[in-house]
Amino acid sequence: MIFLDKFKPELIIASPGRINFIGEHTDYNMGYVLPTAIENKIVFKFQKNGSATKCNVYTMGYDKGFTLQLDMIAPSDVEWENYILGVLNEISKHTDLSTSLKTGKLQGFDCTIESDLPTGSGLSSSAAMECGLAFGLNELFALGLSKKTIIELSQRAEHTYVGTQCGIMDQYASVMSKEGHVILLDCQSIESEYIPIYIHPYKIIMLNTKVSHNLASSEYNTRREECEEGVGVIKEKHPNIKSLRDVTRPMLESAKGQMNQTVYNRCSFIIDENKRVLKMVSALKGNDLELAGNLLYEAHSGISSLYEVSCPESDFLVEFSKENPSVLGARQTGGGFGGCTLNIVHETAADDFIASAAKAYKKAFDIELEAFEVKPSGGTSIITA
Ligand code: GLA
Repeated sequence: MIFLDKFKPELIIASPGRINFIGEHTDYNMGYVLPTAIENKIVFKFQKNGSATKCNVYTMGYDKGFTLQLDMIAPSDVEWENYILGVLNEISKHTDLSTSLKTGKLQGFDCTIESDLPTGSGLSSSAAMECGLAFGLNELFALGLSKKTIIELSQRAEHTYVGTQCGIMDQYASVMSKEGHVILLDCQSIESEYIPIYIHPYKIIMLNTKVSHNLASSEYNTRREECEEGVGVIKEKHPNIKSLRDVTRPMLESAKGQMNQTVYNRCSFIIDENKRVLKMVSALKGNDLELAGNLLYEAHSGISSLYEVSCPESDFLVEFSKENPSVLGARQTGGGFGGCTLNIVHETAADDFIASAAKAYKKAFDIELEAFEVKPSGGTSIITA
């Protein structure tokens, strides 16, 4: 793109991906999650370009760019552009674009994007993209948005322009994470606690299935609807409940006859998964890594058979890990239908585990497995100004 010739970035932002230790699909059910940012990230470089409305955005990895006008923002047919446009649309609502344009607050900018975060791998490159852009523009133009607003508007951008009715977890983790910790986030009150994570001599090893099924977004929204349907049925007997967060096992059982098996299974998973998050927090606080590992296996079993958001590739890798005594636990992480499995592996056995998993996976699916260690890291931040 033409602007690259004269590009002198005045602000550089790093926005990380995340893993979720446990607590899948609980966020939009107002429950608990336990995510943290990782070292893999998207780097944004910004410069003001002197125009009132014209912006240029360029992704280095894909060698693709586009130009947009701040006063003519509309959804695009090109999927990745919607992450940018959605955020700008939300920021413009917040900062009252017409006023801010007049006062020169939000103006034309050039931006390059570079990522070492594999897309479609369940590590939330989407939230990293949204939050990094929002965070960067907030700094560049001193928009005065709080971190909470950045998180919420990034989530809304995903709802409106990308079309996934996601919960708050990914954006929260991308912005708020702290090195060496996972975040216990209560998605009902949005209160959080940083939980230190010391798993030495174990490591968190991610195995990337390299499959990301297209149905992920539509199935995601369907899961959300099924949970809402369950809440609707349980409400008839227990009018005070607002979400699955308020539903106990006996309440669900009392309504079982009025709902279909699928809806029952979805609700059942969420009730157990919320409990698992709290148990995991106790396990981490008490350094009971064996229990932590078992909770991961339990969670995956629910993800696969009750919530049905796994896939043969993820199931294979989780099952494979069970044969290795140096692996304490494993499960698919993220929205589902592929992406990565998260494994707790003894450091002395990590290389062998990766090599044997890669071999078995190649044989079973003819796909080259990708594996990497992740470390709980800090949230979106300025690298240099
Ligand atoms: C995606 C969504 C999150 C969350 C997870 C599943 O990553 O963006 O809000 O629902 O799936 O836990």
